[in-house]
Amino acid sequence: MKTVKTHLILSCFFIFSVLSCNQKKEQKIEQTVNVQAEIVLDLLALQEKNKLGKDTVVTVINDPVYHKTKKYHAVNALFLLKNEIDLSKVDIKNTLIIFECIDGYKPEMPLELFLETNPFLAFKDVDAPKGSNWEKIVKNGNEMDADPFYLVYTSAPTDDQEYKWPYNVIKFRLESKNKNIEVLQPKDDEKAMKGFALYQKQCITCHAINGIGGEMGPELNYPKSVTEYWKERDLVDYIVNPASFRHKVKMPTLGITKQESQEIVDYLKYMSEHKKTNSN
Ligand code: HEC
Repeated sequence: MKTVKTHLILSCFFIFSVLSCNQKKEQKIEQTVNVQAEIVLDLLALQEKNKLGKDTVVTVINDPVYHKTKKYHAVNALFLLKNEIDLSKVDIKNTLIIFECIDGYKPEMPLELFLETNPFLAFKDVDAPKGSNWEKIVKNGNEMDADPFYLVYTSAPTDDQEYKWPYNVIKFRLESKNKNIEVLQPKDDEKAMKGFALYQKQCITCHAINGIGGEMGPELNYPKSVTEYWKERDLVDYIVNPASFRHKVKMPTLGITKQESQEIVDYLKYMSEHKKTNSN
């Protein structure tokens, strides 16, 4: 019995080494995907250890949060990333960088784009009033500040939705592009695929499905799908214009059409049949 086992192990080893010679490339990709799943940079912990890098002052023309030209004390986010992560081990084209914020907001962008764009992690506003790190940000009538970090760029178009400018950032996370897609994609349903594409673009930053996605808004699928406790027509209208249902609603009006909203609801209905199970 023992020799059979040894034999098996040896032949497996042999096959494996042959494969790894001929298919080095594929293997490398597989490895990097595994590595990527793990990468999280806790920015506050790095700050505490004095590992954010050198302070500098950057100027942002037409800052999209303050709507004017601003100057910040900042560190170079690219240097920071490269200091902490061996990017040669990361499959850059297939990776997303996700910015985790205090309130559960989790915007993401392609890592490749991030690496091209001169990102800076601002930690203090040069024009802040005494006693504060930031000039106040006014949003929906509420005043807030950008602590602890605000992600800015010195050479990105400030009106391009692909670039994310989150404030209250606490973590950077690198994740394989395919990870969420595999779990949330309605592979066998073409109609739901349309809504899925919209959902990915417009909703996943704030909402989770089966536990995957942002946490600023409520989970939409598990244990009960919103399609089970909302009337379908209301749900479609709510997604188009949340403020027409709830006073001081925190969900923004996203500028999506009624038809797009219907497609998203079709996707949500599909996912209600594909809930998280105990095994994942
Ligand atoms: C910027 C964050 C944000 C985005 C983007 C966003 N939502 Fe929301 N959403 C929220 C928040 C916060 C709430 C809770 C609203 C409240 O009651 O103030 C919410 C509530 C909801 C609800 C009601 C849930 C319930 O149980 O009553 C639905 C449905 C919903 N969102 C769907 C969507 C869909 C679909 C999209 C994409 C088209 C989307 N949201 C995009 C933040 C967001």
